[in-house]
Amino acid sequence: MSSQSAVKQISLPTLSRYKRDGKKFAALTAYDALFAELISTAGVEVILVGDSLGMVLQGHDSTLPVTLDDMEYHMNCVHRGNKGALIMADLPFMSYASEGQSLESAATLMRCGAHLVKLEGGAWLAESTRLLCERGIPVCAHMGLTPQSINRLGGYRVQGRNPDQAVTMLEEAKILEDSGAAILLLECVPESLGAQITQELSIPVIGIGAGPHTDGQIMVMHDMLGITPSSIRPPKFVKNFLPESKNGLQGAFQAYVEAVKSGVFPGPEHTFH
Ligand code: KIV
Repeated sequence: MSSQSAVKQISLPTLSRYKRDGKKFAALTAYDALFAELISTAGVEVILVGDSLGMVLQGHDSTLPVTLDDMEYHMNCVHRGNKGALIMADLPFMSYASEGQSLESAATLMRCGAHLVKLEGGAWLAESTRLLCERGIPVCAHMGLTPQSINRLGGYRVQGRNPDQAVTMLEEAKILEDSGAAILLLECVPESLGAQITQELSIPVIGIGAGPHTDGQIMVMHDMLGITPSSIRPPKFVKNFLPESKNGLQGAFQAYVEAVKSGVFPGPEHTFH
């Protein structure tokens, strides 16, 4: 037997059980081994190796320049530091433009230790989602504000405010659930739409700027430490947990986890009404 104490591994069934039991869970981005270790030992259940690394690490003004090679490098780093969190990896811009390409790109990140991959988009991803799931690759669908589509959206704005858009988003979320998506991530939508989609889907829903009613919450790690690059205006849904921490970074990560689990975060000031 190993002399190391056993680390509890979070899995997709763990998150489904949390949803059934009404227990909230916390997610954060990480891009390297040290932060993956700090975050996972602070009790964060899901680590996202996000293509936001293009903006917070590489200094780009969007996520579009991030490549599959970049994701592979950071995915390997996070895998080495992680202590039991579920690791989700972003498929970067144009790495899943066709069904065949989505299988190849996802396989690359799964070989680095990802437990599931995240794809931005709606119903057009139904077939890729089905193919990936059938081949043993769980999928997180990312809807609402999808940063890889920034040029089509015309800005980082709240999505689904108009009733027709809200109905379409709910319908497309259900299509992706039916296609086998294991998780839905909802970014920047009004609180009422976040609540409705969470209630109507049976898979766990993770929110960022989607109000307090989603099953889990996620933030870009740099944002919750107050170190957003000066070129980026921190969005309304961001809270810096570092100033209140009495135990540095680890205290901030633990405070975030507690605030999410107790439902204190996000508050009304972080929510689109
Ligand atoms: O890439 C990322 O960090 C993300 C979050 C904004 C959810 O997709």
